[in-house]
Amino acid sequence: MADFILGIESSCDDTSAAVLKDGFLLSNVIASQQVHKDFGGVVPELASRAHEQNIVPVVSQALGKAGIQPSDLTAIAFTRGPGLLGSLLVGTSFAKALGIALDIPIIMVNHLQGHILADFVKQEGKENRHPAFPYLCLLVSGGNSQIVRVDSPLEYTILGQTIDDAVGEAFDKCSKMMGLGYPGGPIIDRLAKEGDPKRFQFAKPHIPGLDYSFSGVKTSLLYFVRDEMAKDPQFIEKNKEDICASFQKVLIDILMDKLVKAARQTGIKEVTIGGGVSANSGLRARIEAEGRKRGWNTYLPEFKFTTDNAAMIAIAGWFRYKAGERTPLDVAPVSRIADY
Ligand code: KG4
Repeated sequence: MADFILGIESSCDDTSAAVLKDGFLLSNVIASQQVHKDFGGVVPELASRAHEQNIVPVVSQALGKAGIQPSDLTAIAFTRGPGLLGSLLVGTSFAKALGIALDIPIIMVNHLQGHILADFVKQEGKENRHPAFPYLCLLVSGGNSQIVRVDSPLEYTILGQTIDDAVGEAFDKCSKMMGLGYPGGPIIDRLAKEGDPKRFQFAKPHIPGLDYSFSGVKTSLLYFVRDEMAKDPQFIEKNKEDICASFQKVLIDILMDKLVKAARQTGIKEVTIGGGVSANSGLRARIEAEGRKRGWNTYLPEFKFTTDNAAMIAIAGWFRYKAGERTPLDVAPVSRIADY
């Protein structure tokens, strides 16, 4: 009998539901919330209300697109955390209610493990490459910047992580500082393509081991822009492409220095990336270039799997289901998870 897993993701501002049949994607529906646009960031209260409105239609659509009935489902995988508590509560409560109604197990999933396992979602007619264990994942998003060693779908070790801001925050804050809009990552990525990455220099931090820091480079951009604007109020407008290209370059340099070090220290040559910032075209090109230079096998997630989606939650849940995990119904969501 095939396993039909329903995945539910509601950790931040995307309500998503997906159905997998034995690891093959049948549907992946994402409702991205537009209510936050005017605020320059996600408003938690509005996010939970929008999840509450979206969850039933999104799940119905996912089942419809998959061509199955709720009674066909084997188990329900849902994001337990980390994320916004009010948002997580919607997905968790929905998963419990549906699990009770259908009398099938629910499986809690760590959202970050979903990003790390995204390459394992199989699609009909695609190559479906995925890393071999053990592999390294550079997990880069609005809330995290980590290098994780993955020994199996259930075994993770954080080798290094940011001691302050996440790299996505650095992209977003830089964009905000320059009045370019939100979320900043895609905007900076687009402008950087037109600019000269060597035009301006921003100092890299010196952090021991495999940890990261992005607050210093963010502050150095702030002071740089402030000083230049005092001399020429049109400075940003005239140079935004070069500023974005130079700033993006230093962020990628910082990420890559430690990833190269981690690969050297562990001897692991299977390398993947995950999280929202893994959509960055400069970072993707650099990973591939480093991979060719160093003999790594590199894996880049499809764009639709870089942002929050339920397909990655379903695949992570399916691995846990097959390992015999079942989540009790008194489970509560958690906004922070310190480890894996
Ligand atoms: O994983 P994600 O969707 O969710 C959170 O962690 O909240 O990541 C969102 C982050 C944002 O900081 C956004 O600016 C960044 O991913 N991002 C990008 C790009 N697309 C999204 N950063 C750089 N380049 C991109 N193309």
